[in-house]
Amino acid sequence: MIKKDGFKKVRLEKLFVSSPNTANSLLTMYGEEVTECISKNKNYQFFFSQTKTFDLIELEQLLQAVGWSRRPLRRVRKALDNSLLKVGLWQHDTRFPRLVGFARCTGDGIIDATVWDVAIHPVYQKLGLGKNLMSYILFNLKKMGISKVTLFADPGVVSFYKSQGWILEPKGNKCAFWYAN
Ligand SMILES: CC(C)(COP(=O)(O)OP(=O)(O)OC[C@H]1O[C@@H](n2cnc3c(N)ncnc32)[C@H](O)[C@@H]1OP(=O)(O)O)[C@@H](O)C(=O)NCCC(=O)NCCS
Repeated sequence: MIKKDGFKKVRLEKLFVSSPNTANSLLTMYGEEVTECISKNKNYQFFFSQTKTFDLIELEQLLQAVGWSRRPLRRVRKALDNSLLKVGLWQHDTRFPRLVGFARCTGDGIIDATVWDVAIHPVYQKLGLGKNLMSYILFNLKKMGISKVTLFADPGVVSFYKSQGWILEPKGNKCAFWYAN
């Protein structure tokens, strides 16, 4: 189920030798864990970051671009602070990197995690980024030792997850929801 392809840790040591400026700028922009995300469009470079600070307005714009409703920014900030893992996918630009993908996970950090808010900007869909984002998330959760990951798929994306090995709750009789309103 977990595929490790589709992304690669940037070899900073090597990059430092060949181009210290590039290595430094990647580190400064995306943090120590900077990881390249491979896509079908070779004209762009994409990087995952778990530490680059989100501009909340840019993040909400991304989530609205995929059709989700607006949420109060203060609550979004708290949700991010309380998340186990939050991943931004950036289209690289030395001056203005653009947030084109996002996902976050909640959980106990030991046994269980749940993935939320998986989104790739419509302009960048169908390039393999969504699949690689999921692969990157599962790789990092596995690194934490987490053995069970759940998510709630919108009906239109069930086959997206199924094709990556996610198993559907077969009879719909184990899952329960409670909504405050
Ligand atoms: C779902 C989403 C994340 C997929 O991202 P993406 O970058 O377009 O996906 P990829 O290019 O990595 O696609 C990987 C594979 O899944 C397929 N796929 C992509 N979107 C799909 C969908 N909605 N339904 C079924 N299959 C899909 C692709 O055709 C591709 O197949 P292939 O490997 O045989 O070529 C993106 O469409 C999105 O953000 N949608 C809106 C938000 C959303 O619904 N998020 C999920 C909430 S549960």
